[in-house]
Amino acid sequence: MRHYLQFSDFTREEYEYLFKRTAIIKARLKAGELYQPLPGKVLGMIFEKSSTRTRVSFEAGMFQLGGHAMFMQSKDTQLGRGEPIEDVAQVMSRMVDIVMIRTFEQSIIERFADNSLVPVINGLTNEYHPCQIMADIFTYIEKFGSIEGKTVAWIGDSNNVSRTWLQAAKIFNFKLNLACPPGYDMVVLDGQTYGSEIFEIFRDPYLAARDADIVTTDVSVSMGFERETLQRKKDFLSYKVSEKVMLQAKANAVFMHCLPAHRGEEVDPEVIDGPQSIVWEEAENRMHTQKAVIEYLMLGRIDD
Ligand code: CP
Ligand code: NVA
Repeated sequence: MRHYLQFSDFTREEYEYLFKRTAIIKARLKAGELYQPLPGKVLGMIFEKSSTRTRVSFEAGMFQLGGHAMFMQSKDTQLGRGEPIEDVAQVMSRMVDIVMIRTFEQSIIERFADNSLVPVINGLTNEYHPCQIMADIFTYIEKFGSIEGKTVAWIGDSNNVSRTWLQAAKIFNFKLNLACPPGYDMVVLDGQTYGSEIFEIFRDPYLAARDADIVTTDVSVSMGFERETLQRKKDFLSYKVSEKVMLQAKANAVFMHCLPAHRGEEVDPEVIDGPQSIVWEEAENRMHTQKAVIEYLMLGRIDD
């Protein structure tokens, strides 16, 4: 049994397989074909934080696969009243066939997985957001064929999303340029080393974006960090993707954002709503890529 708790849980070869499956699953859906390999199966979803995309994409995706998705907010369950995560895992995994969790520390999802009888998927933790970056890379590859050797410029916080980009850079062999204020440098948590051909920190967003193929960003205050809002709003004032920042990148560069976005804060409206933005395709691909992950974790490799 496999889990998907961080991006490095799958190999490059597995991602290549998963992207091939994603393209097939997406094309069939667009053609109006039913593909329901999971009748009678249940996806249990635990949300300890808010969500729009993750909930909708998993719930719609599981339904399309012929199964059912169960939405739970931890505050409405005994988890919110202190039931140990290990006990929740033991009980839930005897009733559902696969689990998705959005929570705070990565250790919470790891403890759940250690006690689960069924596969567990990370739907965002403080540390990682693997499903997001899988969709982002699929979106880029769908448009441009390959991400190998490209440059991704991340302007903003060293958070769960950028830390996942870093894991992906090593697996797919592209470069991550990170522009962040002092005090917000990336803390690598997976014990891996990332050479300067894979990862470079800049203070200047214009330098980070120079010749980039993808320019991307995220909110400066992630869920769970709200108490730091005032300080962060000040510290990230000059870390915004503006049209001037986009001009540093390659002429065919794209803008990506995991969403939700705050126009005028981490990105200007002219960029996110402009011609280089591919944020809506990126959001849609969350559903198609996650369907491939669910299929893989539950059924293994499919030949057709
Ligand atoms: N990008 C993302 O995970 O969005 P939600 O918080 O809406 O799920
Ligand atoms: N970094 C953001 C991503 C939201 C999808 C957060 O954790 O709140």
